[in-house]
Parts: sequence; C-alpha cells; structure tokens
Amino acid sequence: MKVTVVGAGNVGATVANVIAMKNFASEVVLLDIKDGIAEGKAMDMMQSATMLGIDTMITGVTNDYAATFGSKVVVVTSGMPRKPGMTREELIGVNAKIVKGVVEQVLAYSPDAILIIISNPMDAMTYLTLKSTKLPRNRVLGLGGLLDSARFKYFIARALHQAGIPASLTDVDGMVVGGHNDKTMVPVVSYAAYRGIPITKILSTAAVNEVVAQTKKGGATLTSLIGTSAWYAPGAAVATLVGSIVTDARKLIPCCVYLDGEYGEHDICIGVPVILGAKGVERIVDVDLESSERAAFDASVKAARDTNALLGDALK
Ligand code: 2OP
Repeated sequence: MKVTVVGAGNVGATVANVIAMKNFASEVVLLDIKDGIAEGKAMDMMQSATMLGIDTMITGVTNDYAATFGSKVVVVTSGMPRKPGMTREELIGVNAKIVKGVVEQVLAYSPDAILIIISNPMDAMTYLTLKSTKLPRNRVLGLGGLLDSARFKYFIARALHQAGIPASLTDVDGMVVGGHNDKTMVPVVSYAAYRGIPITKILSTAAVNEVVAQTKKGGATLTSLIGTSAWYAPGAAVATLVGSIVTDARKLIPCCVYLDGEYGEHDICIGVPVILGAKGVERIVDVDLESSERAAFDASVKAARDTNALLGDALK
C-alpha cells in the first residue's frame, strides 16, 4: 500500500517517519517543492531502517508528482505554519492557493486516493478541498480532533498527577469535537474518563476548567515555545489516521469531515467522531452532547462557516 506525504517540513517528515516505523505501508513518497529536502530527509530515515526494523521504503522527490502515482492515501501538509501569536485562521490567504494546487496535482496521478488535510486553517482547507475536487465526502478528511484529543488526554493525566493520582496517559480517555480552533474547539468533558471513571468525579471543577483551557491553547502554547507549529504529536496523529485507513482498522477517531445532516448540520467540514477504514470515513457517529457542550459545538460550527466565507473565489 502506497502513501504520499506532500510537504517535507517538520510535520510531513514526522508523518513519513512514524508511518515507516509502523510498517503498515509498503511505500511512502515524501514530496516537497524545495530542492533536495524530501530526498535528504527520506534518505536519512531509510538509513535508520536497519536499526529500527523499518521495512517500508521511503522515497523523497522534489515536485515530481508522477512519483506519487497510485497512492491509496495522500497527506497534505503544504503551506505556511503559524508563528507565535498567530491564529490558524490568519493563514487562510496564503494556504488556500497552495492546498488547492497540491490537491489538483496529486489527484491527477492518484484519482482514487483518500485525502487527509493538515494545512491550516484545517477545517477551511478541508472544506475547500472537498468543494474544489467534488470528491465523495468519505474520501476527504482533516486532522484536528485527534490531535486536540491527545492534548486533552495529556492535560487530564497531568491534572491527575497534580491531584496525587500517578495516572498512565494511556488509561485516560477523552475527545475533542468542533473546529480545530484555539477558541471554539470543544473538549467533551462529559465523556472524559480515567479507566471509565468520569474525570468530573475525581478532579475538581477548577482543575477540569484548567484542563479545558490548556487543551484549547495547546497548539498556540507550543508555537510560542518553539517558534513554529508543533510536529511530533501532529505527525503521530496523522500516522494514526493513515493506519486506520490502510489497515481497515475502523477506529473511532474525531476528524474533520463534511456533514450532510449529521449533528443537524449541512455543508460544513467540522470535527466529529468518525469510523475510519479502507473507504476512508466509513461512518459519522452522531453522539449526544450535554446542552452546554452542544451549544459550544454550534458556536464552533458558526465560526467555521465564518472562516469558510473568507475562501471567496478559491471555492470556484
Ligand atoms: C497544531 O495544533 C499544527 O494546527 C496544528 O499543532
């Protein structure tokens, strides 16, 4: 099974590396527009293969879309990352054109590919991709919810430690829905648990509120610390999405997908729990949310619609 990653920056290179280490793809093609970058990073990763037990062949190419021919999944990370103090939405002008151009080129060689959009503002870029390609909605998804959920679980585990409970992160469950947006994403506290125990039963209200606040600004916090967008958790999250598709694992994962009546919404791409398998989005899972969380979700949808309105002519 062949996977293409467009963009050999921090996120794209990490995606390629994690996919290779998991050995669920026979080949990964890493493509960048900057001469030599993808080739060099791919070669460096392959030189780790004998030490890490990697059987996947990673090939780096410079702007050679013919090399991506026949990809089952294409990951689009192209575009500018945000700088400290920026919102993801501020990237819409520069990234819309880049994403649209990349998607056109990959589909010319892999017309049946499933597309995973990372470029920010990711919800709008996913919507742009779906509208401009007219692909069936099961084949276009965006990474946001899984990454935000991973941060939510990390901050829950940290709060448990601060409350004297030395929790393992993998014993924590939590989900974030709505837009991949610092202000409007919705960490679903009502479903968050530590080995089945609702976190509201073991953490104070103040601690839970702090976890929610830290989750929402999780990406911005990292950008202020490292000067650019994060890449380890985004890269691992994308590899998790790709894995569920190429192995037909049918994992339940929050992703940005196009709603056509689910959650009472139409004509919007937003983060909701979905089942990911060989066909891409196998099913959208329409879960009940508590009234306050549903109101926050509705506000997140509105904010995403407002951002989509900025796409203007790019949607043509
Ligand atoms: C993040 O939140 C890059 O949007 C991504 O780190």
